[in-house]
Amino acid sequence: MCKENDLFQPLKAFLANDQLTESDLIEILHFTQDHFGYIPDEAQFLIAKRLKIPTSRVYGVVTFYSYFTQVPKGENQISICLGTACYIKGAQSILNEFEKQLGISAGETTADRHFSINPTRCLGDCSKAPVVMVNEDVYSRVEPSDVSKILDIYRMESQEAK
Ligand code: FES
Repeated sequence: MCKENDLFQPLKAFLANDQLTESDLIEILHFTQDHFGYIPDEAQFLIAKRLKIPTSRVYGVVTFYSYFTQVPKGENQISICLGTACYIKGAQSILNEFEKQLGISAGETTADRHFSINPTRCLGDCSKAPVVMVNEDVYSRVEPSDVSKILDIYRMESQEAK
């Protein structure tokens, strides 16, 4: 038995529904991303084969919608607002500090898959700029000196979960 194949068993089970058609592609991609945290190449191949469509069609949909990603994401999503109000109030230095402390660039995920950094547009809370969101938590009027404290909160949560 090959462990690699086992990883895709839930997707294969989902695809076993003989009612699925190409119009279900988005739903299948949502299932895939929810399961894996991203959409691996092999999953795209399996989906294309099951729907009898070219893999390029699946790839086209995955890359069209920003919700879908082909890159594994971290357990904690750090969204740093680079909208105008936040940018004026120093959001770039906040982003730089997260990059420095995590050793990754914007859009990347740490090797241990704990954190991803995602620069975003306005988060709708401009009066509290600069704004950072980690998962569903909102941090306002963030200073570069707050970055290590914010990261520690999620590092501790990860340790407690073990
Ligand atoms: S510009 Fe950052 S919350 Fe609006």
